[in-house]
Amino acid sequence: MKHRWTEAAQPKPLKLLCGSLAAAVTLIFAPVHAASPGDPLAAAGRWEGATNGSASTPPMGWSSWNAFRTEIDEAKVLGAAQTLVDTGLAKLGYRQVNIDDGWWVKRRTGDGRLQIRTGIFPSAATGGPDETSFKPFTDKIHAMGLKAGIYTDIGRNACSQAYDLHSPNLPTGTTAEREVGLEGFVTQDINLYFKEWGFDYIKIDACGLADFLPGSDLVKKQNYRAQEPLIERGSINRTDIKAVRERYEEVAAALQAARPGNDYVLSICAWGMANVRSWGKDVGNLWRTSADITPSWTSMLHNFDSAAKRALYAGPGHWNDPDILHIGHGEFDVANPVEVRSHFSLWAMINAPLLVSYDLRNGPASFLEVIGNPDVVALNQDKAGHQGVITYDSDDAQIIVKTLGNGERKAVALFNRGASPAPVTLLAGHLKLSDSAPVTLRDLWSKKSTTFTGEKEIVLAPHETLVFEATGKRQLENGVYLSEIPGSINVAVDGTRQPQLDPTVHRMIDPWSSTRSGGSRPQYAGWGGAQADTTPYGQSLQVAGQVFESGIGVLSNSRLQVKNDAGYAELTASVGVDDSTENTRQPVRFYVYGDGKLLAESAPLAFGAKAPRLKANIRGVKVVELVVRGTKSDDALPVVATWGDAQLTRAAGAGI
Ligand code: GLA
Repeated sequence: MKHRWTEAAQPKPLKLLCGSLAAAVTLIFAPVHAASPGDPLAAAGRWEGATNGSASTPPMGWSSWNAFRTEIDEAKVLGAAQTLVDTGLAKLGYRQVNIDDGWWVKRRTGDGRLQIRTGIFPSAATGGPDETSFKPFTDKIHAMGLKAGIYTDIGRNACSQAYDLHSPNLPTGTTAEREVGLEGFVTQDINLYFKEWGFDYIKIDACGLADFLPGSDLVKKQNYRAQEPLIERGSINRTDIKAVRERYEEVAAALQAARPGNDYVLSICAWGMANVRSWGKDVGNLWRTSADITPSWTSMLHNFDSAAKRALYAGPGHWNDPDILHIGHGEFDVANPVEVRSHFSLWAMINAPLLVSYDLRNGPASFLEVIGNPDVVALNQDKAGHQGVITYDSDDAQIIVKTLGNGERKAVALFNRGASPAPVTLLAGHLKLSDSAPVTLRDLWSKKSTTFTGEKEIVLAPHETLVFEATGKRQLENGVYLSEIPGSINVAVDGTRQPQLDPTVHRMIDPWSSTRSGGSRPQYAGWGGAQADTTPYGQSLQVAGQVFESGIGVLSNSRLQVKNDAGYAELTASVGVDDSTENTRQPVRFYVYGDGKLLAESAPLAFGAKAPRLKANIRGVKVVELVVRGTKSDDALPVVATWGDAQLTRAAGAGI
């Protein structure tokens, strides 16, 4: 893996320090911050977060998949587009119209050009029996002021060719003609989609790397070319993470060449597998974090959980994608208005793409009121791009807080996951607002306002989510906690050694195998990734008995980047080994860099050592980097390290 800790990169401690001997540090560690070539912890001195593609806010629009699966046609898609315009949804931001699986008929022998199924997309029949083009279609979409999206697979074959074998719209022909995916045709297909056909957005699935196994019934019966799996669905350790990433990187490069103006969106659909949580942000604009959503409450919980604790990995231009909304179907149909609002509110709060996917032509007015709620849409589309952070977590109720702009306003969602009423006490402190000044809550569904000081009791109905905009006196009047601004943070290196599956994701009865399988064990890694306001393993932040309500939890050998666009003057943090660490034997050391220059550092801090307060003058600094160096041994567990009360403030010396 790319970010492997190397012995050469490790500063050599001569002696370990504990407690408050922080001042003696520089004498003890030599070299202080030596960065050897290839050291992943070396400060880059520039923002390394991805800047390619154009998804500065989460994509919004419509997708054909949950509405029609492969049984799409031009009338259905254009009908959805027209409804977006006619209802005013397009003006609210719902501009993306995405064709999913089912559009293709074959890859032409000879020149490899993809052929569109003109029986369902009549405008694509542009010339002769073999010549097809989506240009007339995308022209229509563009003329409506909308954007067009297309679907493909990173391997040779698409998901419908494994899972929708009854479909009338599967590719036809010889084995080679039915290989409609990108493998072997990346540049040709991307140029076709983006330069010739004029698409703006592409979703790239990954069944071609996972499901066409040598010797399988599927391959034999359907006469497909077999593919040794690069993604093994049941095993992250047997998945070739590097190879999967490289496949998507190849596409990203082709997209940049095809659209040098950056006007495209790349959606990675590897269902959270192949450790995409850690690299999706560097390669694409959004990446699925879980298996396909089904229209059931528990599937919604599962998908929500897969993205909700990844706040530090998302930000402007790159978003966690818990899948298309399932409003309109099953437990999110018109008879379940509470669940419909909850699903929508939760997606909005965690900066998920807002892609609705029911038959818009025939949808009820009540859905339009939900998806057209301008206040809820606005919090999802807030330019600062801070994903909501779960500030109170339980299997029953959660409180999610999202910073709007630079923190002048907050959005807060109170979410009842369960089927019984849930009593919730909202604290001003959950919002990082002062508990001695009034807090005003504006309910974004009822539009009613209330005010409280300190705390407020609210009983949530089963499955209910209330969403408020909250204003009050900020705890930090002259700055922000880093955990309030996840969208300004890039997790350059998170210190995880081996991808581990996240055990906290809700496990529903598997929709595909029922109880015949081992259960819906999430196959996406993320356990141990950097977290806002908790440790990487979901514990409260605490160093030598001192609890931190705010802060960033990381592992040793990690490097975070923080954008200082707002021009703060000082960074301060109380740093140390977290009391929850399993590895209590190894010391760690904290470093703060500004535009590549070392600004502050701690002593080597062992488990049990009190947290010294680091201060760094960051006036004029564009990118602050926070590095924790720890054990050099790959055999040792990473150390849980805490940047307690980490904050950026306007005036040097000002603080909490
Ligand atoms: C996969 C994806 C879905 C959809 C289908 C199409 O299952 O995860 O979102 O695109 O393929 O076949």
